[in-house]
Amino acid sequence: MSSTNSSRISTFRRTVWSYWKKHGRHDLPWRKTKDPYRILVSEVMLQQTQVSRVKEKYKELLKAFPSVHVLAEAKLSDVLKVWSGLGYNRRGKYLHDAAKVVVSKFKGNFRKALEHSLPGVGPYTEAAVKVFAFNEPDVLIETNIRTSLMYHFFHGRPTRSTIPDSEIMPFANCAAKGQDPCTWHWALMDYGAHLKRSGIRNNVRSAHYTKQSKFEGSLRQVRGEILRQLHNGPSSLKNLKFKSSNIQNALASLARDGLIVKEKGKWQIS
Ligand code: ADE
Repeated sequence: MSSTNSSRISTFRRTVWSYWKKHGRHDLPWRKTKDPYRILVSEVMLQQTQVSRVKEKYKELLKAFPSVHVLAEAKLSDVLKVWSGLGYNRRGKYLHDAAKVVVSKFKGNFRKALEHSLPGVGPYTEAAVKVFAFNEPDVLIETNIRTSLMYHFFHGRPTRSTIPDSEIMPFANCAAKGQDPCTWHWALMDYGAHLKRSGIRNNVRSAHYTKQSKFEGSLRQVRGEILRQLHNGPSSLKNLKFKSSNIQNALASLARDGLIVKEKGKWQIS
């Protein structure tokens, strides 16, 4: 890093820490634990879902399944029942599958399990559990962190080009050096969330930006409605109020994901 960049890094750190001290979300329930199971649950839930919606479901799921062992033993239908309403139900199945692997292959040892690939646990989630549960000096990039870094280090660049994470990473690495990994990343996330609330929309310039599709009339909506009905028991789903082709597509995709099966002419949760 040049000396100009190193002074920009110092300014950035000061800004982020100062925001954290005054306005950090110190009370988020998943920030009051070092239990890797609880942290994995929160990270999976927080993918594509807002903090405010996750808070209640996080508590509900942990009440029903207080440990990775209890979750691994649970029936998928019970897991999906708790998950219902949070959306992207496939995440619930992945979490359940991951719990089964952690227990059966690694005797509940999360740290060891993280060395291997777990169902639905991508590079970000794996690194997040390392950082938040084990305080390891990994470097995370997710939507709010991107906003923070892009705002400070890519401000004023021509808007024609999109910025890949590979260009942001050197700044993320450099800024994280010498900081407490867990608290630093909480602070970065909260500062980025604050920038977004103040109207900064620089994520559209990220090469990794994806806009969440509209829910109304989407495949997601039909999938959610089908699962909601099946939580009451097996059904032939005759009274769904969607276009028949949309229902067929949703059923096929739910079956492909292993969330539902058809038995004796009726659909049910796997
Ligand atoms: N705290 C820890 N992980 C988080 C996340 N993914 N989003 C918001 N706050 C968090």
